[in-house]
Amino acid sequence: MNGPSVLAKIGRQCVRGLLLSFALSVPINLLMLVSPLYMVQLFDRVLGSGNLNTLFWLTVIALGALAVHALLDYTRTRLHQALGHWLNRRLGFEALEAIVRGVLRGGGDPSRSLQDVAELRGFVAGRAIPSALEFLISPLFLAALFLMHPFYAAVAAGGAFLMLVIAVVNEVATFRPIRQANESAGRSTSAIGAALRNAEVIEGMGMMPAILRRWWKLNQETLRHADEAARRSAAISALSGKIRNALQMAVMATGAALVVNHMASPGTMFGAMIITGFALGPFQALIDGWRQWVGAYASLKRLQTVLEPERDGMERSTMPLPAPEGPLVVERLVFVPPGASKPALKGVSFTVEPGEVLAVVGRSAAGKSTLARMLVGLWKPTAGSIRLDGHDVHGWDRASFGSYVGFLPQNVSLFDGTVRENIARLEASDPRDVVEVAKLCGVHEIVGRLPLGYDTPIGEGSYLLTGGQRQRVGLARALYGRPRLLVLDEPDTSLDAEGEQALVRAMLAAKADGAIVVVVTHRQAALDAADRILVLNDGQVERIETRGNQAPAADGPARLSGQGAQAALTRPAPALAGGDPKRA
Ligand SMILES: Nc1ncnc2c1ncn2[C@@H]1O[C@H](COP(=O)(O)OP(=O)(O)OP(=O)(O)O)[C@@H](O)[C@H]1O
Ligand SMILES: [Mg+2]
Repeated sequence: MNGPSVLAKIGRQCVRGLLLSFALSVPINLLMLVSPLYMVQLFDRVLGSGNLNTLFWLTVIALGALAVHALLDYTRTRLHQALGHWLNRRLGFEALEAIVRGVLRGGGDPSRSLQDVAELRGFVAGRAIPSALEFLISPLFLAALFLMHPFYAAVAAGGAFLMLVIAVVNEVATFRPIRQANESAGRSTSAIGAALRNAEVIEGMGMMPAILRRWWKLNQETLRHADEAARRSAAISALSGKIRNALQMAVMATGAALVVNHMASPGTMFGAMIITGFALGPFQALIDGWRQWVGAYASLKRLQTVLEPERDGMERSTMPLPAPEGPLVVERLVFVPPGASKPALKGVSFTVEPGEVLAVVGRSAAGKSTLARMLVGLWKPTAGSIRLDGHDVHGWDRASFGSYVGFLPQNVSLFDGTVRENIARLEASDPRDVVEVAKLCGVHEIVGRLPLGYDTPIGEGSYLLTGGQRQRVGLARALYGRPRLLVLDEPDTSLDAEGEQALVRAMLAAKADGAIVVVVTHRQAALDAADRILVLNDGQVERIETRGNQAPAADGPARLSGQGAQAALTRPAPALAGGDPKRA
């Protein structure tokens, strides 16, 4: 997928809707002439001649035109709302993907992009665009005034110019304080938001006063800038409103002078006044709506940067590949983490065959977690390669790759959802598959004690599950769907002896099923289950020990030979576009 072309495509599709809106705007604006024309006609034809029949027909025609006007106006509003919804959906998907990429890169404000999408939606669905299109029709009104008498047009054109000047002055005067207010508001929201996620620490160590002080300081800055902007724009807005009044008076005065000199009919005096109002309306709307345009443009610019995947080396293939059957081959892998200056991995090479368990050990900051993340293709290698069954893991289409991979990161975090949804990776699931994998990972007994069983909501904020229990649910999530590659990053840090046994059982079941298993661990039970142990030291492979056919821990493999473990791994993989006869 390609960022700029995505935005360009969306833009092109939007243009069609906007053209339609413009096409509607022309008759809508012309129909605004109904009441002034009606008035002119009353003055010039009915009042003069006293013909009530003319009055009747004029009224019928005017009412009909008003009805058409209302209908067209409604259609245009709906069109913009529909356009806004469409844009929201279309851009929302892209933005969510971009947010995930942004988090992986370790940069940016993740919630910002979705806000930008919402702002663009509001902009497209709102009045800003129709007003601007009306702006293009203003000359028509000026032409109508010109037909009544050139003097009317001259006065209105002068007024329009004045209002444009005011718009520019407004922008110049408020641009800086508004930008500063927005920036500091953004800073305070993200700073305080991050602090509040630490509610336990704040409350437990009595840090509330310090948090309040921080918030107040940031908030004051925002208020100061916002006040300044509001003060300036209030002055300008008061001025521009009065100028409009003065202009209407000028038109009336012009009309009176023209009528007195018999250069125009009395009806034109009122008609011109109303039409001048229409002609200047878009200028007023431009002044009022300018901020929305600037905001929408800023949102678009920000989205443009996050939607350019080639900037972060995140392009991927979109073609699903069949289930991997070959080995995992890591060759001279070098990786400099985003934002870091020195490599976390320096030329790592090893191979893991299907049906093999590789344990990775090493002291803190040796690069174990970095390696684990690279194995599931989160980041693109700086140099070297990681291939699974001959295919680059990073370039692999995510959806099909994910269905062959189980990954348990070091810091397990569960999704906002039920136990079942968490295990089944938020996909629709067969309860039997969920229960099987839960039994294998020792989650089934835990779930039995939960109030709603598998349908119990467990999320980030929930205290229902302990750290060790969460780790086991994370393990079940990794094991779900019969992964061909299983990567576990310190899956046993919070596990008790029972949990450790479940982990070993799960690893050996995956091995027996022919999966490639890579586990970062320091615990003896898991090490005993490994075929080889890779010792990582300062981003380099120190040595790889092959372990003999030694007896694995306690009752780990004994349980594997039972039906349960095997059954848990026999669920067919999710259907793949194009099909995979070997796995069918
Ligand atoms: N996103 C990142 N940005 C900057 N530096 C990073 C990033 N990820 C990892 N590093 C650096 O890479 C090095 C290896 O980190 P890694 O998390 O892989 O260590 P580890 O072996 O898993 O340690 P531990 O046993 O404590 O989990 C560290 O020096 C770390 O600071
Ligand atoms: Mg780690």
